[in-house]
Amino acid sequence: MTFQKNAWYVAAMASEIDDKPLGRRICGLPLAFFRGEGGQVAAVEDWCPHRGAPMSLGKVVDGKLVCGYHGLAMGCNGKAHSMPGQRVGGFPANRSYPVVERHGFIWLWPGDPDKADPALIHQPVWSGNADWAYGGGLYHIKCDYRLMVDNLMDLTHETYVHSTSIGQAEIDESPCRTRTEGDEVITSRFMENIIAPPFWQMALRANGLPDDQPVDRWQICHFTPPSHVMIEVGVALAGHGGHEAPTDKKASSLVVDFITPETETSIWYFWGMARDFRPGDAALTDSIREGQGKIFSEDLEMLERQQQNLLEWPGRNLLKLNIDTGGVQARRVIDRMIAADSAGEAEVTSA
Ligand code: FES
Ligand SMILES: [Fe+2]
Repeated sequence: MTFQKNAWYVAAMASEIDDKPLGRRICGLPLAFFRGEGGQVAAVEDWCPHRGAPMSLGKVVDGKLVCGYHGLAMGCNGKAHSMPGQRVGGFPANRSYPVVERHGFIWLWPGDPDKADPALIHQPVWSGNADWAYGGGLYHIKCDYRLMVDNLMDLTHETYVHSTSIGQAEIDESPCRTRTEGDEVITSRFMENIIAPPFWQMALRANGLPDDQPVDRWQICHFTPPSHVMIEVGVALAGHGGHEAPTDKKASSLVVDFITPETETSIWYFWGMARDFRPGDAALTDSIREGQGKIFSEDLEMLERQQQNLLEWPGRNLLKLNIDTGGVQARRVIDRMIAADSAGEAEVTSA
């Protein structure tokens, strides 16, 4: 297994689960998500105990998930509740998984249910804070989730993949520094006295600042397990303190990346941007979402073709350059977490 099981993953945006079930594979598990009585979200194996049809092809009636084949109705706990003309008491139950709706997302715990503590769910800085606004989207990408972590922990690729929006030669020319604090890996890069690339010129204008003056630019990437990457990004008018500049001298935001393995070689990528300027401006949220969606779509082909190459040449070594340190250290944390998962399982087996 290449991913941590005892962790909370974003499985869906809360808005994706309405009055219909959603079938989605998370960490290799085929699941059906639906809202039970009272609207609380449940996740059960996407399997009908009658003949094995996918429960997610059914519908939700009075808070029960009803199979679309012959009408077996299942509760949030995965137990058969009823079926026309049948007694269901002896039907085998489906597994159900711990699931929590929070911060606009549906979080799933694929591992040991006894360890699923909702207090461990990532606490986003913007959630529930009126000074912040958030907008984002979802991409399905056919690559190992660790390739996406590598991508986000090494932003030198912006110079090449995103040359028309956020890329610029100075990224390549400025060294990055990486450090690990506990389970968190932080890679940072600071660029001084440069001209802002097009995306940041737009953000400067949106902030009422000139877009043609030299700026100081920063990128601070934070990886935390199982696979979240939050990136502080921004520009400040040059000489005002960069990252520490007062808010009326800068445009800054937080790039939000929740990367959820679907299989060993595919992901659900929840991307977004949170900002603490003009939070009430819904039109600005939409235009940032549109711009970011376009920029992030530029990574898809590269990641998918990279994955195909890695499958094509499984024995070939990859270089680990200075720019790769963030991804390499993140993988060390991931490996430690996976080892802790299996140590926990060994304890259970030997007990
Ligand atoms: S397969 Fe689901 S009710 Fe028959
Ligand atoms: Fe990118």
